[in-house]
Amino acid sequence: MTIILDKSANVFTLQSKHSTYQMKVGKLGNLLHTYYGARLSAQDLSYLLFDGENHFAPYPSEFSNRRGSLDILSQEFPTAGTGDLRSLGLLLENADGSRVLDLRFVEVKLLPGKYALESLPAFFAASDDEKVESLEITLRDELSQVEIQLLYAVFEDKDVITRALRVKNLGEQAVRIKKAQSLVLDFHSGDFDLIHFQGRWAMERQFERQALTHSTTSFGSNYGVSGNRQNPGFLLADKATTEDFGDCYGFNLLYSGNWTATAEKSSLGQNRVTLGLGDADFSWQLLPGESFEAPEALLSFSNQGFTGLSHNFHDMVRENLCLSKYSRTARPVLLNNWEATYFDFDGEKLLEIAASAKEIGADLLVLDDGWFGNRFDDNRALGDWHVNEEKLGMSMGELARRVNEAGLKFGIWFEPEMVSEDSDLYRLHPDWTLNFPDRKPLLGRNQLNLDLSKKLVRVYLFEVISKLLDSAEISYLKWDMNRPISDWYSSGLDREHQGELQHRYVLGLYELLSSLTTRYPDVLFEGCASSGARFDLGMLVYQPQIWTSDNTDAVNRLKIQYGTSFFYPLSTMGAHVSAVPNHQTGRETPLETRANVAMAGSYGYELDPTKLTEAEKAQTLVLTERYKDYQELIFSGDYYRLSSPFDSELTAWQIVAKDLSESLLTLVATNAEGNPPFNYLKLKGLDATALYEVEDHKYFGSVLMNAGLRLAQSRADYSSQQIYIRKVDKDG
Ligand code: DGJ
Repeated sequence: MTIILDKSANVFTLQSKHSTYQMKVGKLGNLLHTYYGARLSAQDLSYLLFDGENHFAPYPSEFSNRRGSLDILSQEFPTAGTGDLRSLGLLLENADGSRVLDLRFVEVKLLPGKYALESLPAFFAASDDEKVESLEITLRDELSQVEIQLLYAVFEDKDVITRALRVKNLGEQAVRIKKAQSLVLDFHSGDFDLIHFQGRWAMERQFERQALTHSTTSFGSNYGVSGNRQNPGFLLADKATTEDFGDCYGFNLLYSGNWTATAEKSSLGQNRVTLGLGDADFSWQLLPGESFEAPEALLSFSNQGFTGLSHNFHDMVRENLCLSKYSRTARPVLLNNWEATYFDFDGEKLLEIAASAKEIGADLLVLDDGWFGNRFDDNRALGDWHVNEEKLGMSMGELARRVNEAGLKFGIWFEPEMVSEDSDLYRLHPDWTLNFPDRKPLLGRNQLNLDLSKKLVRVYLFEVISKLLDSAEISYLKWDMNRPISDWYSSGLDREHQGELQHRYVLGLYELLSSLTTRYPDVLFEGCASSGARFDLGMLVYQPQIWTSDNTDAVNRLKIQYGTSFFYPLSTMGAHVSAVPNHQTGRETPLETRANVAMAGSYGYELDPTKLTEAEKAQTLVLTERYKDYQELIFSGDYYRLSSPFDSELTAWQIVAKDLSESLLTLVATNAEGNPPFNYLKLKGLDATALYEVEDHKYFGSVLMNAGLRLAQSRADYSSQQIYIRKVDKDG
């Protein structure tokens, strides 16, 4: 049994293969949290709750002995006005202006399979056979008649729990939600580190580990999208936890807009984590009879260090999230013309690129920005999505056909959510933008955000994108989004609903993506937001891969891809080989290294292949073919971070097939030293008793994992090595 309900004691226990999560209804009907961690026998763990006096703190008047303060009891979903003075799960304004919400237990229901959300995308069971059970717990405030449902699903074999929140107004007056978190998790004690992934454009998702001290650390996004400054995926880990050892918890949110997370250690040493909708500028009016859903959160626990957590998350993303058929199939090796030409191209130049792209083994040519309207630079024409045939010298249909004739598929770039001031669309529909009334709009890359909360705008975008996809043989669409959203005002909403705009924008985006991906199931969609500013679980529902970073420098990419890999599998990371000197850093790295790094992702090129010498073309073709040989292993295998680019001169990673029959090891040297120390590398994840062939030698798995490989003592800067490892039988 995955979920065990002890209805007499009101103890609810969620069991996954290696973890246990438990709640209990307290004496007054509050839902308390008793445990989340390594798997235990399902026994009532409420003895762990602190039921003594919390000196001078508020406590419910039902307790005459000064006990029962909710400020020290671990809670499942804390709300305002109940005496819990820590970060809250839900803040709501009642019709009389008060903010108290005193939720008491009403009922618990076991649901078969995975619960569904009505308004938002959610994880699903990968097959009818997958062991998934759901739980719905209803709590209610008797006075206001506001009810919430806490939803849980246990993916037993994947060691993952999803959570979601539904708020219902059963009362007779409108209430206003001011803050809604999808996840609150309390720990009775513990001395944790917080690991989060901060960044900026061109240096996204940088690993940062810091002690959780007696304070509240709050992070999130105000970018309008999930953002490149912080990623919604983060971890809490014991101080001693490493890749392979120790307890750690991972959290993520299936959402692509503004979000907030807090990690807090109270003065009594209790810890709390929250994660949910961005609360800086949020309010949602809930009329009598209406309900509201908060996005789904993902949780996992591992006592095998970070690697165990990453494997759980990778499996969920690969199997239980993405609706595209490409999430489970091989992907084309693409060549994108952005760094090859920027805006300076015509149809013939693109066809020359296509012919050379074919010679280096690419499967698909992507025509990036600049094919439409008056778009000769990035200052104008966004929104004018009609093909500039004069610039191309041909129609899009002809270009696609001739690219196909050259042996490649054809893909196209779009930035649907934007409009330039200098565009016909803006001149015609200035009211379609997000814009504060009577004020000059703020600009980002000289462009404005379209108001996706408006149905009319979504219908227009659906039609204009469909028209283009129908007009030519287009197999791929890169969906870009290049500025943060700042001017949060919609002329389509009245005063009472302006606070809903941030969330309505995301709902509009999901609706548009859903209709387009449903209508064009054969088109591969790739996400992009100034590259990696919207790398999140929400976008991965519709787009199996996301352009990880505009920074294609192989050395910087080590850190970017390392951070991204904690939550997202390699198949989701768009990774391209670009020209040297690198356009972002000016660094020169060998072609093989650029390719080896890009192979830890969904591989492609971002260069002008017509500029490669014959020798470079030949070498590039070999690399493309090597990637194609390994793609299935790279996409479906278990990923091991063998060393960190943040504290090692030799970054190494390994992918091991699920059946342990093969493995791919990659090493990249980044900081050569004189007279370097001897270096041994212990591999991971192999079958200990099996024999593996590594280059010309054979070793037992146990040897490779415990004694390790002896590496060359000296390595030139930015040199790299990729080693294929294969299980062999004793006779070879
Ligand atoms: C930003 C993206 O990250 C680039 O790859 C490219 O598509 C440009 N936008 C085009 O404007």
